[in-house]
Amino acid sequence: MSNAKVLVLLGSLRKESVNRQLAELATDVAPAGTTVELFDRLGEVPFYNEDIDNDDAPEPVRALRAAAAEADAALIVTPEYNGSIPGVLKNAIDWLSRPYGNSAFAGKPAAVVGAALGQYGGVWAHDETRKSFGIAGARVVEDLKLSIPAASFDGKHPRENAEVVSDLRDVVEKLVAEVG
Ligand SMILES: Cc1cc2nc3c(=O)[nH]c(=O)nc-3n(C[C@H](O)[C@H](O)[C@H](O)COP(=O)(O)O)c2cc1C
Repeated sequence: MSNAKVLVLLGSLRKESVNRQLAELATDVAPAGTTVELFDRLGEVPFYNEDIDNDDAPEPVRALRAAAAEADAALIVTPEYNGSIPGVLKNAIDWLSRPYGNSAFAGKPAAVVGAALGQYGGVWAHDETRKSFGIAGARVVEDLKLSIPAASFDGKHPRENAEVVSDLRDVVEKLVAEVG
């Protein structure tokens, strides 16, 4: 689909995050006409609490849900923390999972990628994010996988690594192709 909008959710709040750099690269390699936009406010989203999950939910939550509602697809870019999903990302998924059965990403295609220091590139976090986001209602495209050991960046921006550029381009193109 041309003019598709892909919302990027980032599992790291760190300024120098390699996953933030991967998110930048996703913007670079997107097909012409596609908008790839990072929601860069996950650090402002409070812990999920059903008591405040109503029409008056905190503004960052409403902004997150509005961005998700506008998007045609989601690209999650995340490191692995202690063998699992970073809390900031899991919290965003929990907010996005509600209203139950009518979440903003319900049925929309999603892919999960990222980099981590370990030799498996954060694959546990990526597998668990696929599981969690799928339960939250997104249509996770299971085949679109990219878990990169951060050492392969050699301290440089991922756009300097031709294999990473090619692999991420493939993921973004296939994700956009999933948009109906
Ligand atoms: C709290 C914490 C837990 C971590 N746990 C893991 C882990 O389980 N597996 C792994 O490969 N790397 C782990 N790391 C290292 C991260 O992969 C590494 O710091 C990575 O660069 C973080 O991503 P970022 O650069 O996008 O912030 C951990 C880092 C932190 C801060």
